[in-house]
Amino acid sequence: MAKYKVLAMDNVSQKGLEPLYQDPDIEVVIGSKMTEDELVAVIGEYDAMIVRSATKVTPRILENAPKLKVVGRAGVGVDNIDLNAATQHGVLVVNAPDGNTIAAAEHTVAMMLALARNIPQAVAKMKNGVWDKKAFLGVELRGKTLGVIGLGRIGSAVARRAQAMEMDIVAYDPYISAEKAESMGVKLVTLEELLPVADFITVHMPKTKETYHMLDDKAFAAMKDGVRVINCARGGIVDEEALYKYMQSGKVAGAALDVFEKEPNTDSPLLELNNFIATPHLGASTAEAQINVAVDVAEEIVDALKDKVVRNT
Ligand code: NAD
Ligand code: MLT
Repeated sequence: MAKYKVLAMDNVSQKGLEPLYQDPDIEVVIGSKMTEDELVAVIGEYDAMIVRSATKVTPRILENAPKLKVVGRAGVGVDNIDLNAATQHGVLVVNAPDGNTIAAAEHTVAMMLALARNIPQAVAKMKNGVWDKKAFLGVELRGKTLGVIGLGRIGSAVARRAQAMEMDIVAYDPYISAEKAESMGVKLVTLEELLPVADFITVHMPKTKETYHMLDDKAFAAMKDGVRVINCARGGIVDEEALYKYMQSGKVAGAALDVFEKEPNTDSPLLELNNFIATPHLGASTAEAQINVAVDVAEEIVDALKDKVVRNT
């Protein structure tokens, strides 16, 4: 009998779980979607659990998990795991911060191009049998200013890609140095300086008390007329009510959200606006990224179960 049992939730990539399957001390159980009550009933058997974003690791689940040593988040954000409760119960939380960087950066660039050229709207019209060449006059990215808020892994990968499209990049990130930004060819500015100069604004920070509604009514009011806004980071960084207001007024020419304050979300009033486009939290949804993040957490779980040094705690 295996020494440790690992519960893998949320359709985490099977291929990426190889490090667990290869270990004779570990038995992997693939869990299907469960309610909190259902998880509470079974979690007591497990030494480790892997989640993506669908499963919420609540205090109740952690209270009922006497054997649980580690929770692995196959992705970056750990906001679906109650970190205080995990600490209280001595449960280690690990994530996979690098594996989906490129996927999220490419999705952001795809959103920016889709916004600039009205691609989703034009596709929808053609599929409805309308050849409308006049309605979709776009804008070019070349020579435009991209404001990157949060110049970490994904923010810098987006900046590099935008530079290839001859955009000028300004960034706001209070935790990185002007020298580091400069070495990437990016001008580090304050938020107050970024908002009025950027033609496109993209946010790439974690959701914290500080970043919640960072793009609020006041921030939108300070933006350039005709700005286009993208959020492929976390729902709630952009205040959706304020965004709706400024899209209706015409100040915001377009917006693209991959993430929403409430998810899943198919009833946002934003979806009724023609110049609003959205995807259902697909930033990390590439075959490559899903394998990368699963391999990373699987390796970390093996290390945690065997009391070795664990990365990304
Ligand atoms: P990261 O930690 O590498 O970078 C985050 C950056 O935000 C850091 O440089 C940090 O200094 C900066 N930051 C923190 N607080 C800030 C503030 N108040 N103002 C400005 N900057 C601030 O993280 P990352 O891997 O680049 O991920 C960025 C975001 O993207 C996270 O929220 C992550 O959860 C999200 N994400 C989403 C998807 C998706 O599917 N849509 C995929 C991957 C990551
Ligand atoms: C992440 O934080 O890694 C992303 O949002 C991707 C995901 O939730 O799967």
